[in-house]
Amino acid sequence: MLGSSGLRKRVAALGRDVRTLFDDLRGVHPSPLVARRPGRHPAPTAPATAAPSATSAAARPLVVRELHRETLDALTIVLADPTGAPIRFVPGQFLTLLVPIDGETVRRAYSICSSVDDPAQVAVTCKRVAGGKVSTWLHERLAVGDVLSVLGPSGEFTVTPDPATRRDLLLIAGGSGITPIMAIVRAVLAHEPDSRLTLIYGNRTASDVIFLPDLDALVAAHPGRLEVHHVLERGVDGDGGTIAGARVGRLDRATVAAALDAVADRVGPDAHVYVCGPTAAMAQVRDELTARGIPAARRHEERFASPERGAGAAAAQRLVLARPGGDVDVVVPPGSTILDAGLAAGVPMEFSCAMGGCGACAVDLRDGEVELDEPNCLSPEERGRGRILACVARPMSPCTVVVPR
Ligand SMILES: Cc1cc2nc3c(=O)[nH]c(=O)nc-3n(C[C@H](O)[C@H](O)[C@H](O)COP(=O)(O)OP(=O)(O)OC[C@H]3O[C@@H](n4cnc5c(N)ncnc54)[C@H](O)[C@@H]3O)c2cc1C
Ligand code: FES
Repeated sequence: MLGSSGLRKRVAALGRDVRTLFDDLRGVHPSPLVARRPGRHPAPTAPATAAPSATSAAARPLVVRELHRETLDALTIVLADPTGAPIRFVPGQFLTLLVPIDGETVRRAYSICSSVDDPAQVAVTCKRVAGGKVSTWLHERLAVGDVLSVLGPSGEFTVTPDPATRRDLLLIAGGSGITPIMAIVRAVLAHEPDSRLTLIYGNRTASDVIFLPDLDALVAAHPGRLEVHHVLERGVDGDGGTIAGARVGRLDRATVAAALDAVADRVGPDAHVYVCGPTAAMAQVRDELTARGIPAARRHEERFASPERGAGAAAAQRLVLARPGGDVDVVVPPGSTILDAGLAAGVPMEFSCAMGGCGACAVDLRDGEVELDEPNCLSPEERGRGRILACVARPMSPCTVVVPR
């Protein structure tokens, strides 16, 4: 439970979040977050990370310190707080970049792939998607020295390193799905000396493999603790590039089954499995893990699909925010989300990613009809009991939603 000073800090933080989000949307760069004490933690102590589930976050300006190409179509963006304030996260979390394109602010999530032990900067790696609005912009327009507004970190696809823990982790990545897994690998190797990781990593060709040199170096630096099993659609690429020992095939059910059989002696029966990759591959992996009887509690998935922005109602809608402190009446302009309208009315609603990916803004729909941008992170069970995500919910009729605080 929060004490009164904790409560005051929380309320102040929420107020700051509201102000900074709206400053950001107006194109005004807000003050950076209050600096937390920086700290380095040599292994095997626990790293300083953010809380696993961020409850709210300000849009903070981060400056692009470096850009480098991992592969022809994967660009790593190194970001730092211009004031030098540390950027804390839990391995596996993502940032939401607010990118100004054609007069509109577009939000996209990118998982942090760097080490938690270097809080002075974070890195995300963006794979270029053909015709993709934001990935194309980042690849073609972003320059060192640019400032990006960023929400988060957010997300529950995380591993919080604990030096006292001894665990087996099975990691399955396809293409750019390696990004959150890379942060997890780096953190577990550095902070859990008794834990072991096995990575099955699928790509089209050897030259598409993001972080290949980093993975090779980690395997060499931690003998026996990290094994990487590559799966390549084409065993040899156009330039003759290949990876010794790579399994040839798509990251489909049959190939994953064969790869799992090959690591069965190494991966313990209680291993947690982390899967991130293209939607189709993830579905096939899910089927195989289900068939092998791995319970849902030990399976973790991150989907990279961004929600499609809905149009919303043509007319403004009345919204009642039912809160413990009293109801607040709000008018939601056409196309606006419940979160945008609530924040504009000064209600300190919680949020983190602002793009349907983390659940921090979940509220209950008491009555009325909303349209949700899809896909988002709500489970069928949550939908069934009327949960909605305020950041991607647009009222289609007068509505009442129950806000937790
Ligand atoms: C939690 C989370 C974490 C993410 N982390 C990363 C990351 O670390 N690195 C990264 O590169 N991306 C990541 N993504 C995906 C990223 O947010 C964008 O969706 C991606 O960059 C495409 O955006 P865009 O604006 O370029 O494409 P859009 O303009 O949104 O889409 C253009 C077309 O491409 C299709 N498309 C969109 N994304 C993909 C994709 N990944 N593969 C194939 N087709 C696609 C769309 O369906 C659409 O038809 C993450 C997404 C989520 C939700
Ligand atoms: S703020 Fe992350 S889902 Fe709404």
